[in-house]
Amino acid sequence: MPRITYIEHDGTRHDVEATAGQSLMQTAIDNLIPGILGDCGGVCSCATCHVYVNQAWDDALPPMSESEEFLLEGVPDRQPENSRLSCQLTVDESMDGMEVRLPEEQY
Ligand code: FES
Repeated sequence: MPRITYIEHDGTRHDVEATAGQSLMQTAIDNLIPGILGDCGGVCSCATCHVYVNQAWDDALPPMSESEEFLLEGVPDRQPENSRLSCQLTVDESMDGMEVRLPEEQY
């Protein structure tokens, strides 16, 4: 099982075992990670699953869709180089060890 570390804005770390095939958003929700809301259930329409993915993992991520790009334009504290919507990122074994930082707020 790939291990993912979610890091809250204050630096609090949460190491979880993820399930391949599940999204990073759903993994966070299932593990009660504070700071990821996932209001739309993962259909890329709310942007409350915003995260920052360490750029070392760029090769493990799919390209951004137009709808993800559009939604990210409206999030607070977007970082052009590593903001992503975690519902659009599906866990696989290549993500083992990935660090995902959470923004200060989702609205
Ligand atoms: S959960 Fe709504 S956009 Fe990701």
